[in-house]
Amino acid sequence: MKTSQGWRLGMKEMQILSAPRQRAQLKKPTWIIVLVSLVSLFLICAYVYPPQGSGACYVFSLNGCKGLSDWLPPAPARELTDEELASHVVTNEILNTPPVVPENPKIAFMFLIPGALPFEKLWDRFFQGHEGKFSVYVHASKDKPVHFSRYFVNREIRSDKVVWGKISMVDAERRLLAYALKETDNQHFVLLSDSCIPLRDFDYVYNYLMYTNISFVDCFEDPGPHGSGRYSEHMLPEVEKKHFRKGAQWFTMKRQHALAVMADSLYYRKFKDYCRPNMEGNRNCYSDEHYIPTFFYMLDPTGISNWSVTHVDWSEGKWHPKSYVRKDITYELMKNITSISENVHVTSDARKEVQINPCLWNGNQRPCYLFARKFLPEALDSLLQLYPNYTSI
Ligand SMILES: *[C@@H]1O[C@H](CO)[C@@H](O)[C@H](O)[C@H]1NC(C)=O
Ligand SMILES: *[C@@H]1O[C@H](CO)[C@@H](O)[C@H](O)[C@H]1NC(C)=O
Ligand SMILES: *[C@@H]1O[C@H](CO)[C@@H](O)[C@H](O)[C@H]1NC(C)=O
Ligand SMILES: *[C@@H]1O[C@H](CO)[C@@H](O)[C@H](O)[C@H]1NC(C)=O
Repeated sequence: MKTSQGWRLGMKEMQILSAPRQRAQLKKPTWIIVLVSLVSLFLICAYVYPPQGSGACYVFSLNGCKGLSDWLPPAPARELTDEELASHVVTNEILNTPPVVPENPKIAFMFLIPGALPFEKLWDRFFQGHEGKFSVYVHASKDKPVHFSRYFVNREIRSDKVVWGKISMVDAERRLLAYALKETDNQHFVLLSDSCIPLRDFDYVYNYLMYTNISFVDCFEDPGPHGSGRYSEHMLPEVEKKHFRKGAQWFTMKRQHALAVMADSLYYRKFKDYCRPNMEGNRNCYSDEHYIPTFFYMLDPTGISNWSVTHVDWSEGKWHPKSYVRKDITYELMKNITSISENVHVTSDARKEVQINPCLWNGNQRPCYLFARKFLPEALDSLLQLYPNYTSI
């Protein structure tokens, strides 16, 4: 067939004209195609009926017995929904995009408080001399606080009512993150309450949070009534019971993780709808203790520390953690808290299993805590007096 005429012929004619030439050329590749088909069939069979005996291992693997299913992609347990697929794609893109490190990276300190900030003087001391390395955001859900520290004046964001244990708590956290993300210099985000105090000086906190690539998000599996016992099957199929996690609300987050939380609506909605106080069957679920730990456990488990850098003392075994009063504040107490380098989780089932893990910072064991709660306002003066001593430990 001459090319000068070829373009004028219809498709059918072209096929007829070129057929004899093709047949001659196909003879050789045919056996290759047959062979490839046979090998594919063999591989598919092996995948569907994985080899079990050691004889089969020898056939299927060159070094050691790995089984074919180890080097083929795992068969997905179920198809992701459109929304899940979108969510995973967006989250992975955020996590795999190296952050643009600004010239002047800052830490965002986000205060989630009802109104007054009893330890403002202590925080003022903490921030002094470190201008330009931090930003402060205040979400005051009840009353507009009166500030005297220049670091807090006009730092309130638009706030809304927060009901303890309800989704409005998570909404306030997300609102703080959104406002703090607007400033591109903010690279790490710390959530604090009105009863929180700093345990270290500013530089220690800055270096601890900035020179690691993980977020300090508390996360563990509690099979007991205050853990997985709060799970509702209405969260299926996206959130399975075996993925349900628990953790204290007081997180610190790197920028990518803060963005991932902002980008999420799928998992947020699951918790908003099915993790609430007074659900059916008198079950109580508190989204602020489960949403973020479960979200990161599912989407970036190795990107979080699994403990919170905010210390709290649950050892009294009551409904609320220990509240420190004025007479508790001693150099010895502060030294004790700042020297802890293992984190402890206790399950809420009958076994009360104690899980102890070293606090690893870039692979090395270091003190776990940068902040602590819960301190009563009356502790302020003692803390102010001791602050230079215990932060220089
Ligand atoms: C946190 O726990 C997950 C398992 O839930 C683990 O894969 C991850 O390595 C842990 N993080 C650190 C920093 O050890
Ligand atoms: C953090 O950095 C270390 C070493 O620089 C690397 O091995 C690890 O994969 C990183 N982790 C994450 C969650 O990016
Ligand atoms: C500090 O820790 C020591 C040793 O664990 C303990 O005996 C002591 O009671 C603690 N003191 C305070 C004030 O917590
Ligand atoms: C705090 O440190 C100062 C100077 O080192 C010292 O004089 C003072 O006694 C210390 N106070 C306490 C309560 O340890």
